[in-house]
Amino acid sequence: MSVAPGIPHTVKRKMQNPLHPAGSTTAEVTPPMHMRAFARRLRNDAVRAIKQRVLRHAVASLGHAVRTGRQPSPRLLEQLVYGWDNEAWSATSSFLQAVIEWLPRTTGTVVECGPGISTFVLASVAAVSARRVHAFEHNRDWAERIVRELPPGLRACVEMHLTPLRSCGDFDWYSLDELILPSDVGFVVCDGPPGKTRGGRYGLAPMLRAYLKPGCIVLLDDTQRPEERQIVRRWCDELPACVIEAGENYNVLSIGENRPPVIQF
Ligand SMILES: C[S@@+](CC[C@H](N)C(=O)[O-])C[C@H]1O[C@@H](n2cnc3c(N)ncnc32)[C@H](O)[C@@H]1O
Repeated sequence: MSVAPGIPHTVKRKMQNPLHPAGSTTAEVTPPMHMRAFARRLRNDAVRAIKQRVLRHAVASLGHAVRTGRQPSPRLLEQLVYGWDNEAWSATSSFLQAVIEWLPRTTGTVVECGPGISTFVLASVAAVSARRVHAFEHNRDWAERIVRELPPGLRACVEMHLTPLRSCGDFDWYSLDELILPSDVGFVVCDGPPGKTRGGRYGLAPMLRAYLKPGCIVLLDDTQRPEERQIVRRWCDELPACVIEAGENYNVLSIGENRPPVIQF
């Protein structure tokens, strides 16, 4: 850096920085690195504690709402997503609303591919009618976080299957080799495996088909993405399957039944 002749270096820096009060230098007002890191950690811990309280409160309110037959408000569902603190990857409140509306219209075992905050919602609704939720997850840390944070009453309804993604020909999907799964699945939430998986979520229909009851309802998230729309088309071509509701970012499909579809491809 060149310094104007006759002006001391520190004074010049002070003059160049209008954010610092007169008489101070950058070195005088900037806290040392370890203090900034400490302050950042304090702030992050405080935000995490607030989010955990929001989550606990929202889960309790959701449980109360479903037990008393009331629809949870969109704000409550947004609080769940906020409290879970994984917004970029979480189901939206409108998808969670669809889960709450559709699950009680079905019977039998519930399956979830790609658990998260959606598992809290599924378990809250399933608990009312003593139904079990079988969740498939390939990532151990993620599966453990969900099981750790579910309240005991909800944890009791959820069977978390930690199972690797494996090659099934031209796509990858959760391995069902070690799993004992009832063959009366009536409701599936499909929000995994992650989009970058070979074949995306396509594997659900070919791999799970033998376990599905006729008329099984599948909620597929993220249908605003071309990849998910392509998967819906393949399912409808290859199975008896049709879309019976199309939300902004999800589709509801009926598998194994020939009903009039709401979307024609
Ligand atoms: C779309 S996420 C599932 C979200 C879940 N249904 C929810 O509502 O919270 C699909 C998969 O992505 C992975 N995943 C979740 N959060 C992630 C993150 N922050 N970064 C990377 N992978 C993540 C997990 O393996 C999860 O099963």
